[in-house]
Amino acid sequence: MFFSEEEKNAVYKAIYTRRDVRTFRPDPIADDVVIRLLEAAHHAPSVGFMQPWNFVLVTTDELKAKLAWAADKERRALAIHYENDPSRQDHFLGLKIEGLKQAPLTICITCDPTRGGSHVLGRNSIPETDMMSVACAIQNLWLASCAEGLAMGWVSFYKRNDVRDILEIPPHIDPVALLSIGYTDQYPSAPILETSGWAKRRSLEGLVFQEKWGVQPKEGSDPNS
Ligand SMILES: Cc1cc2nc3c(=O)[nH]c(=O)nc-3n(C[C@H](O)[C@H](O)[C@H](O)COP(=O)(O)O)c2cc1C
Repeated sequence: MFFSEEEKNAVYKAIYTRRDVRTFRPDPIADDVVIRLLEAAHHAPSVGFMQPWNFVLVTTDELKAKLAWAADKERRALAIHYENDPSRQDHFLGLKIEGLKQAPLTICITCDPTRGGSHVLGRNSIPETDMMSVACAIQNLWLASCAEGLAMGWVSFYKRNDVRDILEIPPHIDPVALLSIGYTDQYPSAPILETSGWAKRRSLEGLVFQEKWGVQPKEGSDPNS
């Protein structure tokens, strides 16, 4: 199965333009678009094909406000880690969780570690592979949103039990992420944490080793030879 040059470029375009977005317009997302996004997520790989995900679609202002409260509570609690570095603490406290209220749709994607029973093929050695599978679904959703002209923001700071209480999620199900999705007038061209000076993209060069840990590939060497 081959991709045409145009199709290949489209895949890379989605990968490179996808951004974590925090500011949304209130315009609703058409139902058929939401279904395409969910189908894209549902076609992610998963360990032993266990498909451990569920998608809780949150659209009411009341529930969105409660989720924003849970994230805000956690954000303020975590800010203590930066109390010796006031500029970082200011930055951290300035992180906008308004996106959770602004976006017309927030999806709580969950992981059910019991799905598939106690012997999911390939999950015995690394139990976290269920969560990794959910992360693959999230990335599919993110790339599909980008291709649809939509923005998505991933919120992971909250106490899981707060989110379980708000969305009536059973205790054995893990609420992995809150994903706010909507249209935006402010689609960043680089990671927001990069433009705000919080962190920089590392150079790929320093992250690649040849055959053994710590061994830099020789310049100009063909990794396949
Ligand atoms: C596992 C995970 C958790 C994240 N949690 C949050 C979060 O709680 N709040 C937030 O503002 N961004 C969160 N992000 C988004 C990252 O900050 C963002 O992906 C990173 O800064 C790179 O920017 P980019 O996605 O635009 O390339 C999360 C991303 C991942 C992969």
